[in-house]
Amino acid sequence: MTTPTAAITGIAGYLPDYILTNEELSQMVETSDEWITSRTGIKERHILKEPHAGTSVMGAKAVEALLKKTNTKPEEIDVLLCCSVTPDMLFPATANIICDKVGVLNAWGYDINAGCSGFLFSLTTAARFIETGKYKKIIVVAAEKMSSITDYTDRTTCPLFGDAAVAVLVEPNHEGLGLIDEILHVDGVGRKYLYQKAGGSKYPPTEETVRNREHFIHQDGQAVFKFAVSRMADTAAEMMEKHNLTAGEIAYLIPHQANLRIIDATGKRMGLSSDKVLINIAHYGNTSAVSIPLVLMDYEKQFKKGDTLIFAAFGAGFTWGAQYYKWAY
Ligand code: UT7
Repeated sequence: MTTPTAAITGIAGYLPDYILTNEELSQMVETSDEWITSRTGIKERHILKEPHAGTSVMGAKAVEALLKKTNTKPEEIDVLLCCSVTPDMLFPATANIICDKVGVLNAWGYDINAGCSGFLFSLTTAARFIETGKYKKIIVVAAEKMSSITDYTDRTTCPLFGDAAVAVLVEPNHEGLGLIDEILHVDGVGRKYLYQKAGGSKYPPTEETVRNREHFIHQDGQAVFKFAVSRMADTAAEMMEKHNLTAGEIAYLIPHQANLRIIDATGKRMGLSSDKVLINIAHYGNTSAVSIPLVLMDYEKQFKKGDTLIFAAFGAGFTWGAQYYKWAY
């Protein structure tokens, strides 16, 4: 039998009810709707407000919705991968907690931390499992409570991030659809520009780390911007060259939603018209690992079987990459 490809066969998500608008943010820090919109393209973001509700709450809701939508029993799942930079706790893995919450009893799994590229890294991991022939049903759930590590006194980062969770079911495909190829990279130089300093083994929590606000995201926006534009655009273009794909053959680019200007630059570099570049950043902000599957979820009805999609991401680490994907339903 030929090796199957790995294809997404269903997608569902969960967005917390509370919507934090640019207007409300403007009352919290010195900023404006005009600045945030023109510099990022973000208008509003969802925030999980319930006390002591972690990322797994949203992840579990997304997985429950996925199981229902795809008519899948939780016991049928072989592996569950959770991509997140905001796990409930350092350990155990949020994947385990989600499995427990939704009754995924026959699976194993773990968390994948690859910043905003987390979904690409996780989908590739799931694909390698599927290609062995041993695993038939894998859930990749991207879930982020970015508000838990966002400093709402820092105007340079607090407008950027939002909370969300989206889960996909990944199954073997025998028609050559699904994930065709990936180009993925890491470069640890990025740890200087985008990080959460304290809370891990290097800087465990102390009164000082809390006082210095070191448990929040720190970002050198301009440096990250420069890396993101070149790496994301170059890798997406490299994927096109590798497979002799013309702009006309690409149905849509699904870019990580960090900044409208980075997205536009990537689309231009690939020679795509703007209608082929899918965007939803205005309503969610940067949801880190969730942003690519959140675009897939929002545009699911628009895709046709066989559509050629390019996924492209850039994130903390640095991590970045592109995937060549053929929509399977
Ligand atoms: O998803 C993971 C990867 N992350 C990214 O890809 C993010 C990449 N970076 C970016 O998207 C952009 O760098 C930001 C959106 C974060 C910032 O945009 P920018 O155009 O690079 O702005 P900047 O940091 O250069 O700041 C320009 C000015 C500064 O004032 P001065 O020094 O020119 O007087 C800032 O102090 O804007 C000021 N500023 C603000 N003003 C009003 C910074 N934040 C704000 C704010 N409201 N919220």
